[in-house]
Amino acid sequence: MSNLENLQSQILADIAAAADEAALEAVRVSALGKKGSISALLATLGKMSPDERKTEGAKINLAKDAVTQALTARRDVLKNAALDARLASETIDVTLPLRDTPADAGRIHPLSQTWDELTTIFADMGFAVAEGPDIETDDYNFTKLNFPEGHPAREMHDTFFFNPKEDGSRLLLRTHTSPVQVRTMLSQKPPIRVICPGRTYRIDSDATHTPQFHQVEGLVIDKGSHLGHLKWILHEFCKAFFEVDNINMRFRPSFFPFTEPSLEVDIQCRRDKGEIRFGEGEDWLEILGCGMVHPNVLRACDIDPEVYQGFAWGMGIDRIAMLKYGMPDLRAFFDADVRWLDHYGFRPLDIPTLFGGLSA
Ligand code: DAH
Repeated sequence: MSNLENLQSQILADIAAAADEAALEAVRVSALGKKGSISALLATLGKMSPDERKTEGAKINLAKDAVTQALTARRDVLKNAALDARLASETIDVTLPLRDTPADAGRIHPLSQTWDELTTIFADMGFAVAEGPDIETDDYNFTKLNFPEGHPAREMHDTFFFNPKEDGSRLLLRTHTSPVQVRTMLSQKPPIRVICPGRTYRIDSDATHTPQFHQVEGLVIDKGSHLGHLKWILHEFCKAFFEVDNINMRFRPSFFPFTEPSLEVDIQCRRDKGEIRFGEGEDWLEILGCGMVHPNVLRACDIDPEVYQGFAWGMGIDRIAMLKYGMPDLRAFFDADVRWLDHYGFRPLDIPTLFGGLSA
């Protein structure tokens, strides 16, 4: 075998043995690079006679072509092998479930949900939302609502008082949302149709009472508003809120200083293995207090009781949320326990609407 043939078969063997593209490149440089073995042979052509150059040149070029082809073929093989190895190591299981996005994982607190549900229902009936401060004056929380000084009804409210000021007056954490009635009547002319959802405070704590809780107040003042309107509004509200076609309500006489007459409202229900059904059953659950606004309250708010009359109601938002969604302990509302929220919470973008469904 000639030297050239030896060299060629050695290079081809090296090419075949190159395990990766870097090794192959090294073989190429050692054969065809500037100082490569085949390049060195080609450089000898210049010193040959023309005849010799013809025959030797052709042979060397044949060897060069064979090496070039072998390099290309081997490079393809190595490239494909590298790709196969990468595909094998980077497999993606397209059947794996997606991770929850924040919009899927987040939850709306059932209280916020209930708040949104009830404002949606009352907005549909034409009620505006009115607000007032959590820190109230004694005057707005009690006196203007016809609680005379020293009246025992004040004591029933278990009030958080602030220290008295120099003039003897003292601020308090509002014990109900009724002072927002006063603020609304003092700042708006009738006809008035508002609901006042908000935070309220009383010194009380057990499974169904927390020192801070939530109420929604309703107030309608007009020339001809009467208890019939109130009954209809509450009935429509309860059907919409509890998402049932039929609800039975019971109006019992009661006492509140700011209404005359005053009533308490119960709804009929049946409890069955932890489930509650409305519109049937032997149980009656108290859900709110209401009545015709007392003429003294109208007068205290600069509204002439000879011209205007109206009705009001007050309802515990936490209480109706517990009833509707079967949450037994009110204290859990304030624990910020993610497991509880996961169980009872609502999806963030499922905003309650009457058209699309309140809690669906
Ligand atoms: N403020 C009352 C309470 O917290 C609830 C209430 C009763 C509000 C009758 C009213 C009403 O507006 O008319 O116990």
